[in-house]
Formats: sequence, structure tokens, C-alpha cells
Amino acid sequence: MKGLILSGGTGSRLYPLTYTNAKQLIPIANKPILFRVIEAIRDAGISEIGIVVGSTEKKIREAVGRGGHWGIEITYIKQEQPLGLAHAVKVSRDFLGEERFVMFLGDNVIEGGISPLIAQFADSDWNSQIVLTRIDHPEQYGVAMLGDDGKIVQLVEKPKQPQSDLALVGIYMFDSNIFEAVDAIRPSYRGELEITDAIQWLVDNGFSVHPFIHRGWWIDTGAPGEMLEANDLVLEEINYEIEGYVDRDSKVGRRVSVERGAEVINSIVRGPTIIGENARIINSYIGPFTSINYGVTIENSEIEHSVVLENSEIRNIDSRIQDSLIGQSVVIARSPIKPKALKLTLGDHSHVGIL
Ligand code: DAU
Repeated sequence: MKGLILSGGTGSRLYPLTYTNAKQLIPIANKPILFRVIEAIRDAGISEIGIVVGSTEKKIREAVGRGGHWGIEITYIKQEQPLGLAHAVKVSRDFLGEERFVMFLGDNVIEGGISPLIAQFADSDWNSQIVLTRIDHPEQYGVAMLGDDGKIVQLVEKPKQPQSDLALVGIYMFDSNIFEAVDAIRPSYRGELEITDAIQWLVDNGFSVHPFIHRGWWIDTGAPGEMLEANDLVLEEINYEIEGYVDRDSKVGRRVSVERGAEVINSIVRGPTIIGENARIINSYIGPFTSINYGVTIENSEIEHSVVLENSEIRNIDSRIQDSLIGQSVVIARSPIKPKALKLTLGDHSHVGIL
């Protein structure tokens, strides 16, 4: 089997973070979402992975490389415009050839253990397998209606009035019949070739599409709130280790990682929390569910339930920062210069909450 990861698209709901970075490269518990997806596919025994890239190709190539690091081979497939998930399958045809494949959306985070599912498809004679999960607001996703026999009756992309609470998770498995399906469908109302319509075409034309119902958590990380939620869930799952330096005046709770070269000085850190390589935490409080990336400095400040990306600085802030997603090389500091006022240099589409 081969793997196909979709990593195109614009990530507009995550502006300004995605002005300088691909949304699939935003880290969750200090590891880019895309790396988590690559590892999930590699863990299923797949060594040939194609990554569909769009305008953020350069960033993705720089971060991922050729795959040697994971013991796999990565091929980049350029999609000139984000014309839909089924369009991404079309442009990947040469790479996929006649092999069965798993397609994974590069911005989806799912509770571990999907390898058996992929292996099950590899050994089956199904033409496709899709992953469904029950959720509260299915209207934002592809939605599946199953019959009394558990078979798929209908699939609809983002229906206004969903007929079921079963959403399509961004993991799909296909054999080469999907190419006939993606050639047969027409663009949807949003101008995209929808993979949901291609799967419906398979069902309507007598191909077997097996629905698997996933019972763990799953997050489609399109918006800041979803990033924080994914960060909470992944921090609950990972292994913790203190490799950096914690001084005697600090209190570091359970489920805290302090990575190599990081320092915690006269501070309190409550887990689950991860402090990245070479980060410095000085006279500060780091509360639960926080991911501090490499090279960050936090001094005389308090932060919890937040994600701080690499090389940012937070100094001398009296109010506790929480529920925040802070980009790379951001500086938040109390100014010593009067007048006492907020002085902001913010990127387009930034959000600042002031009490
Ligand atoms: O997350 C699950 C949902 O993903 C499914 O329930 C929907 O049925 C499916 O259509 C899809 O919906 P989204 O609207 O959330 O897809 P989005 O545009 O966010 O794209 C998902 C990923 O695929 C993202 O990493 C960007 C990439 N992509 C997207 C498009 C439209 C591409 O690589 N090429 C594209 O043309």
C-alpha cells in the first residue's frame, strides 16, 4: 500500500499564523501535525508516501525533507490550485499507480492506533474504507447516512440539515477504482471536486465501501480553538521526561517534559505541559495544558492552557495569559517607557483579548 497526505490549501482560518507557515506544520505538543500524520502512516508499515502540496510547498519540503529521518521515501506532488480533495487524488495518479492507498488529511489529528485499520484494508477485498465518527455539529463536515444493515446509503458534504451525526474523518482508503470516480464527478457548489461525491459515486456504481466507526477522539484543526483542543488531547497521550535543567527553587509537577537544553529557574510548572529545547522559564508559572516550543523565554509571567511557538518571548506580564495561540518570534513584554498604554505591532487578522 502507498500513503497520500493532503497538505495543500491556504489555512485562512488560522491567519496570521499561516501567513508565514503551512497550517499542517503548526505544532501540537511541540510536533507538527504533519509529522504526526507521517508517523501514523509509517507505523502501519507503509514506506512510500506522497504529499500533495500547494502554495506552501517550500515550507513543507524544508520541514519534512525526503523522509530518510522516518525510514520512508517521500514524493512531493504539486497541486497548482486547491480545487478539492478529489482533485488532489487526480493529480496524484502517476504516483499511486494501481496500488491500494490510504489518504490522510494533513491537518487532522486522531487518537492513536489506526494502523490495524489500514492493515485490515490492505488485506481486504473492499474497494474503499472510510472512517466515521459521531459528533455534535456534523454540518461542518462530510456526513454519512447508514442503512439498517450498517451499509452506506448516502454521503453529503457539509449538509445544512444533516440526517445523521456521523462525520467523515479525514482518513480514506481506496483501490484504483477511485480514479474512475474522480473523473466522473463535477465540482460542487463551493467549486471543489469533493471526495465525498467520489465515494458516493463508488457506492452508486456497486463498488464496496466499508464504513468504520472510530470511537476515540478526532480533531480537524482548522481554527485556533481546535488547535488548543488538539493540544489538550495530545498532551494527555504523550510520554514525559525531564532532560533539561530544573533548579532547586522550582516546582515541576507530574506529566511535565523539560527538553534538552531547557532551563526552569525559580518557577512552578504544572502538567500536562511540555517545555521545548533551549526554552527558558524564569520566575514564572506555567499551568496545565501548555506547549512551550524551542527557544522560547518566559520571565516574570504566568501562562496556562496555551501554545507558544518557537523563539517567542514573554516578559513581565502581570495578567495570566491563557487559552492563547502565540506564533513564532513574538515578543510580549511590559514597556518601561511612559505613557502607560498598550503598544501593539500585530499581523493582519491577529486577535488580542484585553480585560
Ligand atoms: O476533516 C474532515 C473533513 O475534511 C471531511 O469531513 C470533509 O468531508 C472533507 O471534505 C474535508 O473538509 P474540509 O472542508 O475540512 O477540508 P479542507 O479544505 O480543510 O482540506 C483538508 C486538507 O486537505 C487540508 O490539509 C488542506 C488539504 N487540501 C484541501 C483542498 C481543498 C489539499 O491538499 N488540496 C485541496 O484542494
